[in-house]
Amino acid sequence: MVFPAIRIRTHLQTVTLFLCAIVAAFFISAKSAQSDEPKFQGVGSCSSSNCHGAQSPRKGSRILQNEYVTWTKHDKHAAAWRVLTEAGGRSIGRNLGIDHPEKAPECLSCHAGGVDPARADPKYTVEDGVGCESCHGASEQWLSAHTALEATFSNNVSLGLSDLTDAKDRASLCLSCHLGDGSREVPHRLYGAGHPRISFELDTFSALMPAHWQVDKDYTDRKGDYQPAHFWLVGLAVQAREAVLRIGRYRSTPHAAHGLPEFSTFNCFSCHHSLESREFERSNYGGKPGEPRLNLSTVELLSAALRGLNNDLAAALDLRLKDIAESEGEILTDNITKLAADLADQTPAIQQLKIDRKVCGKLAANLVGSADKAAKIYYEQAEQVAMGLSALFSGPCGEANSYGQQMGRLYKILQAPSGFDEAPFRKSIKEIAVSVTKNGP
Ligand code: HEC
Ligand code: HEC
Ligand code: HEC
Ligand code: HEC
Repeated sequence: MVFPAIRIRTHLQTVTLFLCAIVAAFFISAKSAQSDEPKFQGVGSCSSSNCHGAQSPRKGSRILQNEYVTWTKHDKHAAAWRVLTEAGGRSIGRNLGIDHPEKAPECLSCHAGGVDPARADPKYTVEDGVGCESCHGASEQWLSAHTALEATFSNNVSLGLSDLTDAKDRASLCLSCHLGDGSREVPHRLYGAGHPRISFELDTFSALMPAHWQVDKDYTDRKGDYQPAHFWLVGLAVQAREAVLRIGRYRSTPHAAHGLPEFSTFNCFSCHHSLESREFERSNYGGKPGEPRLNLSTVELLSAALRGLNNDLAAALDLRLKDIAESEGEILTDNITKLAADLADQTPAIQQLKIDRKVCGKLAANLVGSADKAAKIYYEQAEQVAMGLSALFSGPCGEANSYGQQMGRLYKILQAPSGFDEAPFRKSIKEIAVSVTKNGP
């Protein structure tokens, strides 16, 4: 995990992409009768050097045009299918009794975008991994149109291009793979076989891909402003809801061996820690003795973040969390359903929260405060606090550079999840709290 301390922003001018239109038109093949839904055309349809395959950013273009090169060279999504064929993927497959993970729907659903074969144009190949259309939408209808001189973003969207400028929609898309959505999941069985632990935060992960787009004046003219703090907060709300829905899904369909609950719905480190840590010596370790804790870290953080900004919602979330902690069986399942519904109902209010520098300061103070006050900090919470802060300290709200060193130290402490030690994390957080109080975000 790398802290995106520096986000380079340069400004490019607008020109049209007319050469590319010719290439795109060539790539669209005749419609087939198999499916009414638009077909996936494959990364090859985007990679021409006149389109998105320039070696370096093109001067005078409104987009960078080297998106394909960034994706192949630096973005792990490009290797998402390939890793299934390599040692790591093969070993997970072997432990699960899967001979060919690179052909197994259980892996392809995320590692190749899970494209329904009926919607795959002959040019599409799973080897593309998580390709352009996995995020931007199947391009059959818009591929040619989006290169036209008169093309506009809203017209492209009406033809099926995904609108990833909306924080809620972008979060839902990413989380469908980076958390799971029922049709694709990483259950504990996969972790036990060696799958890396998955975690997510919308703004941080968007920057880490790394971003193959640039939020400059031309971008904001076409697509509106990008405010990292807004993407973090709305992303957190969506992630909280999706995490709660996931817990609900697994409770209603018991499937794990020996009638056990699905372990990946709990905090990993409530089980995976050393007995020497003597949790029972704490006055309150935030759960019932001897029981693993449901991973509700994103809900807890959301409620903490909203303090003083939307007290009614923060209080309502706290009440639900308390009910969940105290209930069992069907009543617990019912409380989980209610929490998911609350989160869905309240997301629009969170989206409307106007974020200026003052609100950012409040959000940052709430985040460091929540970690400072917590009786016990689980790794899952600590990691969310750190990623949240890095979003708040970026962009127009804060000055990432002034927190670069402190955030660097925080991320260093988080590098080894199983060896996570609360004490240095608390110390680091306290230092950041002092700076936030003194200087703002
Ligand atoms: C719900 C989506 C999902 C499913 C299903 C899934 N994975 Fe993954 N996988 C991910 C994500 C997301 C990551 C990246 C995690 C991170 O680094 O944050 C990943 C990472 C990996 C990695 C590490 C890649 C690297 O760069 O080192 C391997 C190997 C892997 N998965 C194999 C598999 C195999 C084999 C299967 C099927 C048995 C599978 N995955 C199923 C989402 C999924
Ligand atoms: C994992 C998801 C993902 C993948 C894969 C992906 N993109 Fe993107 N792309 C985004 C997001 C998020 C944005 C930023 C939001 C936006 O501008 O729409 C973006 C923005 C863009 C932009 C807009 C820049 C602007 O100034 O308007 C272009 C062009 C683009 N991507 C092309 C590509 C191409 C070509 C590929 C494949 C080589 C690709 N993307 C793969 C998520 C993705
Ligand atoms: C179709 C499934 C899918 C979607 C949608 C998706 N991802 Fe991923 N993502 C993956 C997989 C699989 C990997 C692991 C690839 C590997 O390591 O080879 C991954 C890896 C990543 C990584 C690298 C993590 C690391 O350990 O370095 C980042 C960052 C990331 N994704 C961000 C995003 C963002 C942001 C979005 C939404 C704009 C998104 N992803 C959408 C499947 C997806
Ligand atoms: C309810 C307790 C519990 C929770 C919660 C839990 N695990 Fe496990 N985990 C186990 C048990 C039991 C095993 C199998 C026995 C063993 O290897 O210690 C195991 C095995 C594993 C292994 C294989 C270890 C090895 O050395 O082979 C990994 C990796 C793993 N879990 C990851 C996770 C992750 C990631 C999470 C959270 C998403 C998680 N676990 C949550 C109990 C748990």
